[in-house]
Amino acid sequence: MSNQPSTLKAQLETLRQEGISAIAAADSLDRLEELRVVYLGKKGQLSGLLRSMGQLSAEERPQIGAIANVVKEALQDELENQRQKLQAAAIQAQLKAETIDVTMPGVYRPLGRVHPLHSTMDRVLDIFVGLGYTVAQGPEMETDYYNFEALNFQPDHPARDMQDTLFLPDGNLLRTHTSNVQIHYMEDNDPPVRVAIPGRCYRRDTVDATHAAVFHQIEILAIDEGLTFTDLKGTVKIFLQELFGDSPIRFRASYFPFTEPSAEVDVQWKGRWLEVMGCGMVDPNVLKAVGYDPEVYTGFAAGMGVERLAMVLHEIDDIRRFYNSDLRFLQQF
Ligand code: DAH
Repeated sequence: MSNQPSTLKAQLETLRQEGISAIAAADSLDRLEELRVVYLGKKGQLSGLLRSMGQLSAEERPQIGAIANVVKEALQDELENQRQKLQAAAIQAQLKAETIDVTMPGVYRPLGRVHPLHSTMDRVLDIFVGLGYTVAQGPEMETDYYNFEALNFQPDHPARDMQDTLFLPDGNLLRTHTSNVQIHYMEDNDPPVRVAIPGRCYRRDTVDATHAAVFHQIEILAIDEGLTFTDLKGTVKIFLQELFGDSPIRFRASYFPFTEPSAEVDVQWKGRWLEVMGCGMVDPNVLKAVGYDPEVYTGFAAGMGVERLAMVLHEIDDIRRFYNSDLRFLQQF
């Protein structure tokens, strides 16, 4: 019976109708592929029907073949049609999920800036790195030994009065200068030494236009065989020229327990001399404290106030402007 042309025709028609409605109902591309295999695959329903065509007569075969082709094309068209629909729907769904409203006002994020104290520190360190120095840091909370004793401050020496600080209940103190790191660094490293040490310092100072209780210093230390005061002076001069150009500078003889001889360096600021650093040849007692042989090694050190340098650089009239976070001031840098 199944090889009757009329039966085959009816079967092809049923295949077409079922196929088209199944394809039209497919809700995913995977399902579509399944249906393609079911109807049009090598072992699919259409091939099955075509196989039974062998039993038809020579006249019937082309007729049924033509109908089978029409059914095949109809199914292919429907498959393609549905594939496009599903793809378009997938794209629409994705677009909907990713919608951004480009007309919405943006979030304003003001651009940050480097604080003038930090940019000044960076400039100073850059210069010393260019001269072959390494950058190191050390503790802000310190023992009497590192802040004073190893730096040759005798227990009752009046030089301690110039650097009164905040003493902590456990006997430690907030360092009064970055010179404490000289000792730490030399304890940890053998000569030769060339090191630049930035950091925060504390003093029981009365705050005014040029003094603050919390401030920043950069310490310089160079130890080697045969270093002399000439090396110190040349280094300081080159550094200040690099930083300030042709601003007048002067050296004044001074005293620090940890250097001998010692000097202070002033720079012109608002028509007067402003002290920006202390310096000198490292005292042999300091070298002895860290186990360096003062008969073999000499060296120089300097300590500069970052606030003071920044005040000269930017013609700032009052040190307190650095700390009160006034944006009108900070936005100028
Ligand atoms: N530590 C000194 C101070 O805070 C500054 C200073 C002077 C540092 C001379 C030095 C130096 O390294 O050699 O006043």
